[in-house]
Amino acid sequence: MLVPGSTAQALAAALADETGRSLADVAYERFPDGETLAAAPGFDADRAVVVASTTTNDAYLELLQLQDAVREAGAEEVVTVLGYMGYARQERAFEPGQPVSARAVARAVSTGTDRVVLVNPHEASVRDFFDVPCEVVDAAARLADPLPADLSDPLFLSPDAGAIDIAIAVRDAYGRGDTDYFEKVRHSGTDVDVTPSDADVGDRDVVVVDDIVATGSTVSESIGVVNDRGAAGVHVACVHPLFARDARTKLERAGVDGVYATDTIERDVTATSVAPVVADVV
Ligand code: R5P
Repeated sequence: MLVPGSTAQALAAALADETGRSLADVAYERFPDGETLAAAPGFDADRAVVVASTTTNDAYLELLQLQDAVREAGAEEVVTVLGYMGYARQERAFEPGQPVSARAVARAVSTGTDRVVLVNPHEASVRDFFDVPCEVVDAAARLADPLPADLSDPLFLSPDAGAIDIAIAVRDAYGRGDTDYFEKVRHSGTDVDVTPSDADVGDRDVVVVDDIVATGSTVSESIGVVNDRGAAGVHVACVHPLFARDARTKLERAGVDGVYATDTIERDVTATSVAPVVADVV
């Protein structure tokens, strides 16, 4: 039985369609003091697949509660799907005295589950932080699906070398086009510089591909650069559409022609589902 966290309801629904598994009845409450209470009333199965996207601290708490609730209700096996794993970008202590937050949350999640499935975590190495078996799945190819079929001489461009594999996966699934990447320097949480690649973008459709759009700084900087260099059109494809603060506006102001994302986080730009990829391993 699939047990959705409140921030992963679209993904859980897509997984239910894909696998034919039933969806548990769930309730998400908040007490006057701010504490959350997520429950699965009437859960009655031997196996639970808890589906979560931990975009907020509350979502982590809710996940721990749902894991505990299904155990309490008699589940013998609990599988946890993290469509989006929050804190995965804090995979090391960047300054003395900082925590390895990804490890801290992974340990907590491990206490309530027998197995974890992660969809395109920012660093695949975070899988080693879990104390239970953890499988990483790559759903980037799903992003080719919603792209316009008639892109002109497309170039799939990642904003940094770290995301080039995602750009290649999308290009391969799309079936044609070149790939390249920018060099990125991040000065702060919202201040990013990208150095253009040598690739010719003139009169071509460019698809900027990244794993996450968070503040939108990285991708909007990239859109600006390719527009300045005469691209015919600029589209953005990302696995995890966090879209914090004014990210959507930033992309629009930079001159984006289309934005496409998966349902690891449900946003208005969600245009495809990772469910077929996750279904293979749950
Ligand atoms: C970083 O290396 C990631 O791949 C993304 O480029 C980054 O997380 C995007 O963040 P933002 O949208 O805040 O620039």
